[in-house]
Amino acid sequence: MGGASHIQWEGNLLKLLDQRFLPEKEDYLECHTHLDVQHCIRDMIVRGAPAIGVAAGFAMVLAARFIIQSFHGKNTAFSWLDFETQLIEAGDSLKNTRPTAVNLSWAVDRMLIKSLAIKDKSPERLLEEMEQEAKNIFDEDIEVNKKIGEWGSTLIHDNFTILTHCNAGALATAGYGTALGVIKSAFYQGKNITVYADETRPFLQGSRLTAYELQKEGIPVFVIVDGAAGYHLNKGDINCIIVGADRVAANGDVANKIGTYTLAVLAKENNVPFYAAVPFSTIDMSIGCGKEIIVEERDSQEITHLKGIPLTPRGVKVKNPSFDITPSNLITALITEYGIIYNPNEKKMQQFVEKGGG
Ligand code: MRU
Repeated sequence: MGGASHIQWEGNLLKLLDQRFLPEKEDYLECHTHLDVQHCIRDMIVRGAPAIGVAAGFAMVLAARFIIQSFHGKNTAFSWLDFETQLIEAGDSLKNTRPTAVNLSWAVDRMLIKSLAIKDKSPERLLEEMEQEAKNIFDEDIEVNKKIGEWGSTLIHDNFTILTHCNAGALATAGYGTALGVIKSAFYQGKNITVYADETRPFLQGSRLTAYELQKEGIPVFVIVDGAAGYHLNKGDINCIIVGADRVAANGDVANKIGTYTLAVLAKENNVPFYAAVPFSTIDMSIGCGKEIIVEERDSQEITHLKGIPLTPRGVKVKNPSFDITPSNLITALITEYGIIYNPNEKKMQQFVEKGGG
């Protein structure tokens, strides 16, 4: 996506493009405290696993600043121990906002480790170095996405029609995107590409965000309803499916937006390759298999209402798991910044991670 980033750090505040109102309105919200960022993550103003991690990195800088200022406010001397205790608390409350995406806890922990490693513990130095670390997380994410794009584009041939689900693009990352990064790289290489974007009920990341992003890039896109994917796969309209990931377990199982598993089963049935674009930071070797991944259950209003208009009978019960788990045996390959893992399984994941991805 060209133009200004949807995540903007202004030194003393974080500006986030409000994704709830895209594509009609491009409004930015200002976050002055880590609690503001927390609200933005919980309410999907910023969403997508890597983007949530990037926002959390800056939220930790805002939390650190707030804690340091509270020492000044109370006229008490800076205590390293108190600072660290309060920073861990702030990190924990951030982590709890959206439990499935591992990038959130990964970024919070990286910021905590950074703060512990700072030798000169003067508050000014602490803030400076934490701010630099948050900026590094942002910059590295774009680099990682471009490398995923390069690797992934080798799997995309001229005249391919690609099905994608949810939004794993610039809006879900610091910029460029993972699954959409692969599509963009192939397109920029001059390949003729068409994208089918699942609308992705209930938050409509596909029809609102993926279509918006691809249209801006000039990449041909058709929006389809989620239920039409099987029809198009069976008809032979689709050459491959590419999705993003919120967490990858040690055996290669992938947690991603609800509906991903359905697509993987349909892909297998119709002999269509199914790829997940996965930054190394999304792999969680502490989780043995997908069944252990906590799946976030979101508010029923996302299903029962659309922009305040009721879609279901009043009081009807709904279930709204936001993610599902795709077992690794349904995945043709994981595309990472270090290369492609074909037919992922526990052994291959272990070998890959032991080599540091490289
Ligand atoms: O609920 P969301 O919109 O945060 O879910 C996003 C997804 O499921 C993405 O596919 C995933 O986070 C990868 S984004 C690069």
